Amino acid sequence: MTAIDWLALVHPVLAILFIYPVVGATVRLGILVRERRLGISQQPIQVPVEHSDHGRWLTGAVVVAVLIALMNTFGSKFFADPAAFAGGVGRLLQLLLVGVGSLVSLIALWQVRAPLGRASFALLCWIGLLGLGSQSEIWRLSDNPLSSSFWASHYWAGILLTGLLLWTTAARPDIQRSLRVRRLHITATVLISVLLAVQGITGTRDLLEVPLSWQRSAIDRCDFSARRCPVPATQGSAAPPPAAGAAVPSA
Ligand code: HEM
Ligand code: HEM
Repeated sequence: MTAIDWLALVHPVLAILFIYPVVGATVRLGILVRERRLGISQQPIQVPVEHSDHGRWLTGAVVVAVLIALMNTFGSKFFADPAAFAGGVGRLLQLLLVGVGSLVSLIALWQVRAPLGRASFALLCWIGLLGLGSQSEIWRLSDNPLSSSFWASHYWAGILLTGLLLWTTAARPDIQRSLRVRRLHITATVLISVLLAVQGITGTRDLLEVPLSWQRSAIDRCDFSARRCPVPATQGSAAPPPAAGAAVPSA
């Protein structure tokens, strides 16, 4: 594997090693918050604060993981063939700037208290991700919500999930205060849980489908609708198979 291939693994590894464990802890703490509020069980006063902090970390990690995936796609396409990258290095820097803008909005969302500030920074962060994701370099199964591929798209489910998490983070003080917002929070978290499962499934599927960098030129020649690849020129020749135990070139 080349350095580009290892970089492509940062996004799934972050999801597996950090995001999903934090999801487990956040869900468990959420249930304890509810039990505490309804008097079902005795819970320490720290439990709601811990739940809210875990939720904040979850949102932050998901935004960072999405930014890493997007930036990795732009970077790998640029470095593979800088001349073929539309807009060249200038556009790459602009895309990087939008990514930094999203990150700054996320940090500002954590800091501000005023409702308008929270709503604005959550929206700014999400719009930045949407802007980056709408570029032609980003693989989206379909952009038509009426087609079934749209609902199987790792990209669109990820964007929806990030939007819901950003809304939850922006609504933190209101979830504590208002019953109506708390009910909305519970509805949103059901959807968030489904989307997290969808991301685990579609992300693993995408890992199977994305070729290693040195295999890409061969894979690009395949006919994806007919599910057929050109027969390699050497196939059918009298070349003998490698002997058992012979050294095979490493990826
Ligand atoms: C999968 C994710 C999540 C689940 C399953 C979940 C679940 C819950 C549950 C069951 C409650 C208790 C509601 C009640 O008292 O009736 C709660 C409360 C709350 N949640 Fe979440 N939650 C999740 C994510 C988040 C996130 C991302 C945030 C924000 C950063 C957040 C912030 C809060 C806050 C502020 C409360 C109110 C705590 C209090 O009463 O002081 N949650 N959540
Ligand atoms: C919290 C969960 C996750 C979210 C929000 C998320 C979001 C995203 C987004 C928005 C992209 C599109 C960026 C692009 O195509 O450049 C992406 C790409 C990708 N994700 Fe995830 N993801 C999550 C979890 C996972 C998991 C668990 C895996 C694998 C085990 C995974 C594997 C991938 C792969 C391989 C790509 C690149 C696809 C390609 O280059 O066409 N993701 N992810």
